Amino acid sequence: LQILLIIYVLSLFKFPDKCHSTEVPDGKVLSITASTPEQVDILRNISSQYETVLWQPASPMYITANSEVHLYVPQESVLNVTTLLQSHQLTYRSMVENTQPLIEMQTRDDSKDPKSMGKFYERYHPLEEIYFWINKTTVDHPNMVKVFLIGSSVEKRPLYVLKLSGRASSTPKNAIWVDCGIHAREWISPAFCMWLVDHCITQYEANRDITEILNSMDIYVLPMMNPDGYEYTWTAQRMWRKNRAKHPDSDCVGVDLNRNFDANWCTSGASSRSCDQTYCGQFPESEPEAQAVANFLRSNKNTVKAYFSIHSYSQMLLFPYSCSYEQARNHDELNEMAQDAAKDIQRYYGNQYKFGPGSQTIYLAPGGSDDWAYNLGIDYSFTFELQDRGKYGFLLPPSHIAKACKEGLQALKSISLKVIQRS
Ligand code: ARG
Ligand code: ZN
Repeated sequence: LQILLIIYVLSLFKFPDKCHSTEVPDGKVLSITASTPEQVDILRNISSQYETVLWQPASPMYITANSEVHLYVPQESVLNVTTLLQSHQLTYRSMVENTQPLIEMQTRDDSKDPKSMGKFYERYHPLEEIYFWINKTTVDHPNMVKVFLIGSSVEKRPLYVLKLSGRASSTPKNAIWVDCGIHAREWISPAFCMWLVDHCITQYEANRDITEILNSMDIYVLPMMNPDGYEYTWTAQRMWRKNRAKHPDSDCVGVDLNRNFDANWCTSGASSRSCDQTYCGQFPESEPEAQAVANFLRSNKNTVKAYFSIHSYSQMLLFPYSCSYEQARNHDELNEMAQDAAKDIQRYYGNQYKFGPGSQTIYLAPGGSDDWAYNLGIDYSFTFELQDRGKYGFLLPPSHIAKACKEGLQALKSISLKVIQRS
């Protein structure tokens, strides 16, 4: 018996619970501000060294004087990096003291804990669970939900779109498009799409706004645009942003899908270097994920009246253009819609959201899906940057999911109701 016991105990060590056991990176997120051009250079340099990962801005070239830079620094580099910062008089503070407990909070499976049993939509889910949810949602609600396979990822994972419809059906109906998870590490984004779908299903004919929207428009939801990247953030590197495309002449992996669309593709604000976080890819729509979305929207451009792309973080409601400083043809209309949506969020949830054209509100970012959709003829095109403004950044705790989603939903409803009136 003793031997059996010993074997049993040993086996516990040999076969640890494989579920979501990722190498949880222990590290810090520093908030750093450069004030001179020399310090900007040094900061750009540091942020491309020591396995650090930029959170904000997404690429070293966007670093400017007097704007906050959020940098993830793995534990083994903290001393080197902070010593360097100090030696150049760069001011910094610890934004996240230790990333490990936050990542554990985001990945913990407490679905069997009686306290959080019913809170499926207030948790982050690994990719397999999201695919399971897509299937179950479609099967359970055949009257409201249809599923379309619009393509597949680099690693051949399916890209599913859910089409939500109300009962009053005159075909062909206008529609709005919502995509989530274009950037792998922005976990609140797919959580938002799931929240939205659940809200439509449970609140249709109960909530006035969503009933009105679904009575006039269908909603296409792509809950997971970058499944390979998302899977990678769960299993290998929490801070990953791009897809997982391999490149012929380089060991670096991934294309920034929000730089891969045909809107001033790969001009200033994107990178042509495959190792960079904002790598634009070999040509517009070189990536199957971007191509699938573009093909679907091209085929449905006569009915799709509004485009929404969901990102995080920084609390912003953005509209074209991001690929140039040019003003959108209906700038005033877009600005008013975004402003009213931001006001609604402020009124109901007390949080501030900035709004404006992407290029002026954050930075020049060509090749984005929103600008491309806008140029295709979808006059109401938005990118939402959900919570927060940097306290937790991408590591937003599950307890914040509900409010973050409600804010996004409020803005989406507010804009969609106006779109209905105008189309
Ligand atoms: N943080 C987003 C990005 O860097 C901003 C997207 C704004 N829109 C755009 N088309 N670039 O991709
Ligand atoms: Zn993003």
